[in-house]
Amino acid sequence: MPDTPFSPAVLDTIVQKQDLLPDCSLWLLDIRKLPVLMPEDIVGILHESSVIRYSELSRKQRRIQFVVGRLLAKYAVSKLLERPIDELALIERRSNTPQLRAMPPLTGPLHYSLAYRYDYAVCAISRSRLIGLDIEIVDTGREIATPAETAFNRHENKWLSSQPANEWHRGYYELWTRKEACYKLLSSKYGGIHDDRFWQTDCLTDSRFQWQTLRPGTDLLITVCQADPAVEFTLTQTSSYNLDNAFDIFRR
Ligand SMILES: CC(C)(COP(=O)(O)OP(=O)(O)OC[C@H]1O[C@@H](n2cnc3c(N)ncnc32)[C@H](O)[C@@H]1OP(=O)(O)O)[C@@H](O)C(=O)NCCC(=O)NCCS
Repeated sequence: MPDTPFSPAVLDTIVQKQDLLPDCSLWLLDIRKLPVLMPEDIVGILHESSVIRYSELSRKQRRIQFVVGRLLAKYAVSKLLERPIDELALIERRSNTPQLRAMPPLTGPLHYSLAYRYDYAVCAISRSRLIGLDIEIVDTGREIATPAETAFNRHENKWLSSQPANEWHRGYYELWTRKEACYKLLSSKYGGIHDDRFWQTDCLTDSRFQWQTLRPGTDLLITVCQADPAVEFTLTQTSSYNLDNAFDIFRR
């Protein structure tokens, strides 16, 4: 990457990194700390496969998240692997994080997940564990779009009801981020899932998954879900056929 306001040296000063057990690093970026993205910066950050998706996004905030997410993921991987950012590319896939391509190729697996909320972009990476990630702002004034009874199973709702009244919102968002992180982890493994069985996963007790929730600011809540790559999850339906992956064969 040429020397721009988005160079690794600049990102070094604003990206917050935290290591998590058993094997994950978390990279958090407050987008407000970045300079305004200019068209030439966007071209420098995005792979050509991302440009079409970028142009399809109508909301300004979502467009910025999309570009910054790819910048953050490439930066974090380059730091972790101690490789120049220019050797890395992110190739689009639907219903997943973009696929990481390195030249020379990576040795061994690398799993990662992305999430955004308002001005925050976050990326979690692991060399050995499947990863899912979610971020939320705990806003007690915001109306909850999905009732707890719909979003969570009976046991999860029982846990939520046992929270003190002033902790209810935080509990709701913690459970929500656990569910979303777990969904992303499984969806990445299976190339997309659309399955009612997922909703039965107990995101408080299922020992196949390890969740960690961090609170880096008063209202910010980040949940990482990790699992062994061999984790078994029985689907009632086959995973969706991903046409983007099929086209990807021709790009190799
Ligand atoms: C796909 C889904 C997880 C995305 O969540 P979101 O809150 O809209 O978006 P986030 O900011 O958290 O994450 C977006 C990133 O996740 C990644 N992602 C998208 N779909 C994914 C999938 N199916 N699997 C793994 N990662 C995925 C992408 O990298 C995306 O960013 P990008 O488009 O810039 O590449 C969500 O829309 C969804 O379908 N959830 C299903 C489960 C559900 O309904 N949960 C409700 C909670 S109980």
